[in-house]
Amino acid sequence: MKLSGQVAIVTGAGRNIGEEVAKLFSSQGATIAVVDLDKERAERVAGEINASGGKAKAFICDVAKDADIEATVANVVEAFGRLDILVNNVAISDNKHMLDITTDEWNRTIAITLTAPFLFGKYAAKAMIAAGNGGKMVNVGSTSGYYGRGRAVAYTAAKGGVVNLTRSMAIQLAPHNIRVNSVVPNKIGSPVGKDHFDPTRPVVNLRNRPGVPVDLAKAILFLVSDDSDFIAGTDLFVDGGCSALMPGNE
Ligand SMILES: NC(=O)c1ccc[n+]([C@@H]2O[C@H](COP(=O)([O-])OP(=O)(O)OC[C@H]3O[C@@H](n4cnc5c(N)ncnc54)[C@H](O)[C@@H]3O)[C@@H](O)[C@H]2O)c1
Repeated sequence: MKLSGQVAIVTGAGRNIGEEVAKLFSSQGATIAVVDLDKERAERVAGEINASGGKAKAFICDVAKDADIEATVANVVEAFGRLDILVNNVAISDNKHMLDITTDEWNRTIAITLTAPFLFGKYAAKAMIAAGNGGKMVNVGSTSGYYGRGRAVAYTAAKGGVVNLTRSMAIQLAPHNIRVNSVVPNKIGSPVGKDHFDPTRPVVNLRNRPGVPVDLAKAILFLVSDDSDFIAGTDLFVDGGCSALMPGNE
């Protein structure tokens, strides 16, 4: 068991990638704060973890709201007595062209996808520093943070921000023995904001298959376990190798 006795917050744990992270961490001995805006989803995941012998609780939180995030971190520490791990997983995509997106849509995408990881990191770090046990954080990025897209603009800007936010968080929290890294997925399970996973959807990568949530969960587990003790402030690409390809080159 790699996470025995540790308490983890996983945001957006109500389905897909976050759900798999929560369940894999639980199988490794962690107690899980299943954080999601959707009560039904969060309670289902927490219930399934508890039913399988783990320990989890649903925390309903809108990560677009600073006060919700601060209260959630405080509630988790009160419920479980400690906080060791934060996985900043929630994001939404605007799926918009820059000529069509409204300012409200832009602001909401940035708030949920970029500002929320910062705020969760800030409040979680304060709790970890107060406890004096150090900690680990993983921000879930995206290949959309490295490459522009025709079909999204606020999401790509926000995910680009997550890359450098991760570096600054890693530097500023290192003196407190808090390790921060990010993962960089591409096409894992259902698309962001969607329920349906189509295993036959065409993908262009070096593994010739779409990623599944457990691919990402295993990488995140590595980054919060002692196996990655010498890794800080970096981005781990979990993209089937698609970022190694340059379209048009042979
Ligand atoms: N799915 C992919 O193919 C893919 C690819 C690249 C990156 N990613 C990244 O992986 C992460 C997870 O993606 P996913 O596809 O599993 O997402 P998803 O849309 O399937 O699930 C997101 C969860 O977050 C919750 N949520 C949405 N808004 C919220 C809010 N304001 N407050 C609290 N909870 C909220 C939803 O209820 C949902 O349960 C994201 O950071 C995403 O950008 C995913």
